[in-house]
Amino acid sequence: MAFSLQPWMARHLRQVETALDALLSPHAPPGSAWAAPTDLNNAMRYAVLDGGKRLRPLLVLAAFEAVRGVPASPSDAAPLRAACAVELIHAYSLVHDDMPCMDNDVLRRGKPTVHVQFGQAGALLAGDALQTLAFEVLTPMDGSVDVDVQARLCAILARASGRVGMAGGQAIDLASVGLALTEDSLRHMHQLKTGALLQASVMMGAACGSGSKAQLHALEAFGQAIGLAFQVVDDVLDVTADSATLGKTAGKDADNDKPTYVALMGLERSRAYAATLAEQAHAALQSSGLPDTSALAALADMVIHRVH
Ligand code: IPE
Ligand code: IPE
Ligand code: MG
Ligand code: MG
Ligand code: MG
Repeated sequence: MAFSLQPWMARHLRQVETALDALLSPHAPPGSAWAAPTDLNNAMRYAVLDGGKRLRPLLVLAAFEAVRGVPASPSDAAPLRAACAVELIHAYSLVHDDMPCMDNDVLRRGKPTVHVQFGQAGALLAGDALQTLAFEVLTPMDGSVDVDVQARLCAILARASGRVGMAGGQAIDLASVGLALTEDSLRHMHQLKTGALLQASVMMGAACGSGSKAQLHALEAFGQAIGLAFQVVDDVLDVTADSATLGKTAGKDADNDKPTYVALMGLERSRAYAATLAEQAHAALQSSGLPDTSALAALADMVIHRVH
């Protein structure tokens, strides 16, 4: 039967949204005598809930199902936790990315940015607390996730978020304002600031199953290709889409003099490059030997054809 992404997505998005909402409950978390300060918890909820395509969680769940060979069920604690953890890191990265000291944006996911709504200290702390919450989520103490799997998930996510992942890429991004980067340097920056977390999403999903070395290797190549493609398309949309569709201010990259694929190679070549990366992603899936990669393949197409 032909795979249809819409019902698959609707089912998985419901699981993810419900789980994120519960993780950010204003009540005391399991094992704690205290609830979070109300303002901090509200800022965290504002940053995470009611918006976002949830591409990273969907990649986690799709990769898990590809490796496992059966649909994820709510009783599979590890993949749903991994899906939420990577979204929490992503949300934190957006909160900090938007702050005046970074991209200075006032609109995100169709709403005022977190620092506009909660102040700069509020945004800084919400980002900090979202980052650590991600690792809390990966390490439940109720025996629901095997400790080896917990360690593997933490290892993948920590590396993809840190100095040779998202944070490192953001540092290069800020240090590169006004510079004309070579294609190699630009690719490196995009792979770190955006590609690393997307690739990690795929590898975390796989780590919740038990893929062979060859399958993991192919999924790594898939994640790398769509990770880079995603940011190339983000650069394109910054130029071609409007703020209402994007839910964030269009045209900011040129205003901020950011090195982007569009600045380096123009719109048409950037689009063609994204399409080439998508072909590489599909080739990696085909070489994986995994019996059913339909959801991953459909998500790769979504990365390229998205309008926001
Ligand atoms: C935006 O990511 C930031 C980048 C890494 C380019 P998304 O486009 O996935 O943002 P949301 O989560 O859907 O808001
Ligand atoms: C952000 O890249 C990547 C992150 C690590 C958050 P951008 O600065 O291009 O993301 P947008 O366009 O603001 O979403
Ligand atoms: Mg930025
Ligand atoms: Mg930005
Ligand atoms: Mg952008």
